[in-house]
Amino acid sequence: GKYRVISTKPMPGTRWINLLIEQDCRVEICTQKKTILSVEDIIALIGDKCDGVIGQLTEDWGDTLFSALSKAGGKAFSNMAVGYNNVDVNAATKYGVAVGNTPGVLTETTAELAASLSLAAARRIVEADEFMRTGLYDGWLPHLFVGNLLKGQTVGVIGAGRIGSAYARMMVEGFKMNLIYYDLYQSTRLEKFFLKANGEQPVTWKRASSMEEVLREADVISLHPILDKTTYHLVNKDSLAVMKKEAILVNCSRGPVIDEVALVEHLKQNPMFRVGLDVFEDEPYMKPGLSEMKNAIVVPHIASASKWTREGMATLAALNVLGKMKGYPVWSDPNRVDLFLDENSPPPA
Ligand code: GLV
Ligand code: GLV
Repeated sequence: GKYRVISTKPMPGTRWINLLIEQDCRVEICTQKKTILSVEDIIALIGDKCDGVIGQLTEDWGDTLFSALSKAGGKAFSNMAVGYNNVDVNAATKYGVAVGNTPGVLTETTAELAASLSLAAARRIVEADEFMRTGLYDGWLPHLFVGNLLKGQTVGVIGAGRIGSAYARMMVEGFKMNLIYYDLYQSTRLEKFFLKANGEQPVTWKRASSMEEVLREADVISLHPILDKTTYHLVNKDSLAVMKKEAILVNCSRGPVIDEVALVEHLKQNPMFRVGLDVFEDEPYMKPGLSEMKNAIVVPHIASASKWTREGMATLAALNVLGKMKGYPVWSDPNRVDLFLDENSPPPA
């Protein structure tokens, strides 16, 4: 192969490998046992000549790595993730490395996990499962695992991009919830869905003028912002205090969007408040006390983990890297973290 392309992890499916091989690439996949590669590990992988890298959200793609990649002749990097808070795009641009992410293919899969966590928290499914398995069930009782009915309640969405909008539609259409959303921008993606052609509004929904409005009014709140300086600890002691005592909070975005220490304290003080968390502040760790809380459901960052989506992410990541090397127009502006697909990406076969 003319181009040397590295993937820092084995990725699902074979389509991504074949795409690269067909286009004159030699593909090297790192099979190190250790889960999270350090900057030094990756520098060693890059070596003296490397044209492109597919990396993971657990890796720190900053000045050091982009400098090393650029010295090795590299022109392209793709995160195998939609979020790119682990990537310093300015550093990449400085070294002439184009950066890609993998939006679109994970929208529905991620929204479905947020919906799963919402339902699991509302109906206390994990607690109830543990109760069964530990042999505590000794007969039906009127009070046993009473939870929340979603129908007619209000779902709050913070960050109404692709994923937040897909989640909102699922909860409104599927469970007949009312919607309140907060986003810096009006979400035409979401609003066009709720407006019939004649302007009639078939469901109750509104865009809040502040995040506080969502926190105050919603019964179920799902977080879908990107992580940056402005969303770090967006949910903290003060915002938790504004929420209803029996609210449900779901996070499938990035851990540091929630002040996890404050959350643990809030869960202790408010036994009827429940959370469903896919992401954590210091992955792979949880803040002290979280794992003991019965009113918390915790899963290990699996929101995009469906077979179709993970294969799609790998394929997109390969196309991102290939696109740069082959000069596809999508890369005409290396400063853009581009959207290769949108929510109209093909449905799972
Ligand atoms: C996963 O967390 C992603 O950003 O794709
Ligand atoms: C990311 O895909 C988003 O929700 O905008």
